[in-house]
Amino acid sequence: MTILRDNIVYGKSDPFNMEQWSKNNFKEERMHNIIKNIKNKGIDNFDYQLIYTDNEINNIIKICKEVPLERVMIGDASEKNDLFVGRFMNDIAGQKPFLVNNELANSIMNILLNNKSKKNFSNLFKDNYIIRRVQLNSMRKNSFIGLHLDTDSNPDYDYNVIINLSCNYESGIFTYYINNIPYSIRPKKNSITISRCDILHEVKKVESGERITLVFFLSKNTGINQSKKQKANYANAE
Ligand SMILES: [Fe+2]
Repeated sequence: MTILRDNIVYGKSDPFNMEQWSKNNFKEERMHNIIKNIKNKGIDNFDYQLIYTDNEINNIIKICKEVPLERVMIGDASEKNDLFVGRFMNDIAGQKPFLVNNELANSIMNILLNNKSKKNFSNLFKDNYIIRRVQLNSMRKNSFIGLHLDTDSNPDYDYNVIINLSCNYESGIFTYYINNIPYSIRPKKNSITISRCDILHEVKKVESGERITLVFFLSKNTGINQSKKQKANYANAE
């Protein structure tokens, strides 16, 4: 039997359930490569279906459409920003994380870290994390996020998870720096980007359209935010 990764061909009968075996193994192999890339290269981008179902993503989009937006001009480390932010969970220096816009926040938290997605994240990282800070970022013409480290917002942030909810925008490129060398990614709609939080990054100016992302941070610290650098009262973004 010949099995090709991109064009899997089976006989009419599949007595050993090879199709499911192949899917499971492909998922496991992809998960293994994602965490390898994140640890070694700092970042990876992948299809949301590795973590969430179509239904969950559709519900996330519905909830995000309802959250009130505020304009943010300065980030946690005093870097310049210009974007609109919808808040679900805040994480302020000296405090434990807390929900805002509670009804919407509860709904979205029930999806982001339900038993299934928790298991998927746990399979990915081979470890368990909690979510700290959850926000929607809406970036329109001339919006940008300045150069920053997520660990300035909270030194205990390990990973930044970005669900990319739109593709109808120009520029707005996520750019990160490894050993001062810039790298850029332009994620597809409904993909997920995960990066380490100790990597310098920015989002370049959006030229047109709307760049919409749901962003949250994974950490092992369940206690207070120990940031000494957060200056702008939880204004930071992606
Ligand atoms: Fe960031």
